[in-house]
Amino acid sequence: MNKITIIGTGYVGLVTGVGMAEFGNKVICSDIDKTKINSLSSGILPIYELGLEEIIKKNIKDNRLSFSSNIKESILKSDVIVIAVGTPQGENGQADMSFVYSVAEIISDNINDYKLVVTKSTVPIGSGKRIIDLINDKVDNRKLFDYVSNPEFLREGSALKDFLWPDRVIIGTDSEKAYEIMRNVYRPLYINKNPIMHTSIETAEMIKYASNSFLALKISYINEIANLCEAVGADVHKVANAMGQDGRISDKFLHPGPGFGGSCFPKDLEALLSISENNNVKMKTVEAAIIANNNQKKRMVEKLINLFDGDVKNKKIAILGLAFKANTDDVRESSSINMINSLVSKGVSINAYDPIANNEMGKIINNINYFDNLDDAVNNVDGVVVMTEWNEFRSLDLKKIKSKMSGNIFLDTRNIISMDELSSIGFVYDNVGRIKK
Ligand code: UGA
Repeated sequence: MNKITIIGTGYVGLVTGVGMAEFGNKVICSDIDKTKINSLSSGILPIYELGLEEIIKKNIKDNRLSFSSNIKESILKSDVIVIAVGTPQGENGQADMSFVYSVAEIISDNINDYKLVVTKSTVPIGSGKRIIDLINDKVDNRKLFDYVSNPEFLREGSALKDFLWPDRVIIGTDSEKAYEIMRNVYRPLYINKNPIMHTSIETAEMIKYASNSFLALKISYINEIANLCEAVGADVHKVANAMGQDGRISDKFLHPGPGFGGSCFPKDLEALLSISENNNVKMKTVEAAIIANNNQKKRMVEKLINLFDGDVKNKKIAILGLAFKANTDDVRESSSINMINSLVSKGVSINAYDPIANNEMGKIINNINYFDNLDDAVNNVDGVVVMTEWNEFRSLDLKKIKSKMSGNIFLDTRNIISMDELSSIGFVYDNVGRIKK
């Protein structure tokens, strides 16, 4: 049984920790934040993630998972040390590596025996080599440790599923011994099929950025196609559906919307661009994906203003959905932020409602009214905007909503509301790239 310490109990660290425990390893999730560790030990989670609470409790009970704020002690007890701390956007779009390097320092101070150091955090290409040098400077014995880049491909909202049934697991290392240990960590996965790929460290680091950027690019592409559909009278859903039938294209990540958000795509695109600039390699497609996404966010605001014939001052508007996507309470880089701030600056009064993300948005925006239920949020408003594709919004009682509103404007930025119904009830509406009834 591998003994593993995960350093960093954020989103990635927690899911990785519990996932590795579920695979039969003995895992300590470690963090300097004592309050967080105390809460986690008593089963209180700092994030919302489908199924996570149950599986954490199960693995604690089965003695495979524990939490500790003593990082040093956790490292000393383990053979595999996973770095899962944040790499937020720093200067000029570059990833801020200070947390990763300070963890590498702590590891280097506590190598009592052979350790396998694994990076899960998304780090710029070349970071692995720097981490090796940093540890080696102190340890001065390359036989005492090995290094692996093991990027994560977890989607918030389905992260556990993504961990337990991954499309691929990338193990970037130049050591056969390290590769074998990692195969063992992921052992249950290759009993039936083998999603494990062995690469160099740099290739593994690149795979992460290349994958995220490609998905972001795909979304920006379909968003621009949607905008053109509006201009030429075509329906983007039919276009995307037909495109997706082509196996070379696939229908995944081909849903138009209000622009992508979250803690990964926006940050990773900027980081990749910055890496390409530092290496004098032009990446016009990545640059374009960022510009197109910013435009898409602005376009949603323009759409709403157009529905009000250009005059939104003193209107009251309900924003349904604050999270950057459904099934998470994460609001980082959410398109709702741009929508709300733009409207507020134009003198609009906002009623906001999200099934679970009100609290998170409240930490960033406090000059709007938050509601804990949809009915109250739409009361007396001039317009309604759907910003997140929550299931609750897919089956709205539109007649009831209209009867509570003082106006009849409806903007569906996720294309989840029936246009037939909207028009038959008498809404003046818009969405993204569809032929209106
Ligand atoms: C993303 C990747 O999908 C994961 O594989 C990766 O591991 C993760 O980043 C990361 O680097 O940690 P995540 O940010 O959780 O995961 O969310 P996604 O499901 O990828 O959605 C990102 C954004 O794109 C959301 O705002 C979503 O609404 C939007 N989106 C997604 C669309 O507008 N259209 C689509 O077709 C798909």
